[in-house]
Amino acid sequence: MSLRVAILISGGGSNMVSLVEDMQGDHPARPVLVLSNNPSAAGLTKAANLGIDVASLDHRPFGKDRLAFDTALTEILERVAPDVICLAGFMRIFTPEFTARWNGKMLNIHPSLLPKYKGLHTHARAIESGDSEAGCSVHEVTAELDGGPILGQARVPILPNDTTETLAARILPLEHRLYPAVLRKFIMGDHHRVDLT
Ligand code: GRF
Repeated sequence: MSLRVAILISGGGSNMVSLVEDMQGDHPARPVLVLSNNPSAAGLTKAANLGIDVASLDHRPFGKDRLAFDTALTEILERVAPDVICLAGFMRIFTPEFTARWNGKMLNIHPSLLPKYKGLHTHARAIESGDSEAGCSVHEVTAELDGGPILGQARVPILPNDTTETLAARILPLEHRLYPAVLRKFIMGDHHRVDLT
């Protein structure tokens, strides 16, 4: 029987698509749900077109009550009983209750070479700092934002004329390779790092 993966998105869902497309054939897992906190996320349509069950949980009616949102999210997730939850451009900060509930089962992709540049505007910060390279990281999700154990990274050089857009465009295809590669190992209990160049 296949292992079960839920994917949480907020936007375009290109990382979600790369994960879904990898979960075929002899892959040990299958996508069981794609959920967005943004009901109009383009990724929901992409997931539905790929034949995946989709759901949305609009965060706005919950206002500042993060725990109520996270509790509702946990209820939805418990119905599909995921073995692993992949955050793929999911733009929410979780409560400690949520990260504790799914401890050891949740992955995130972040567009920086963690531990550098946690949070937002990662590409701009890497360029402004004069870094010679940038990249992306897949890590386990813990209570610390973008702070859990790193499971894989991919790196690219920062070129002299790079803008946030050109750098992001160079990193995104690596995200699409890295995340499925890490998921394949992680879901089989292999937490060794994946390094792509
Ligand atoms: C990616 O760059 C991801 O690393 C970041 O948000 C972006 C999501 O893109 N967290 P997509 O929705 O997967 O296309």
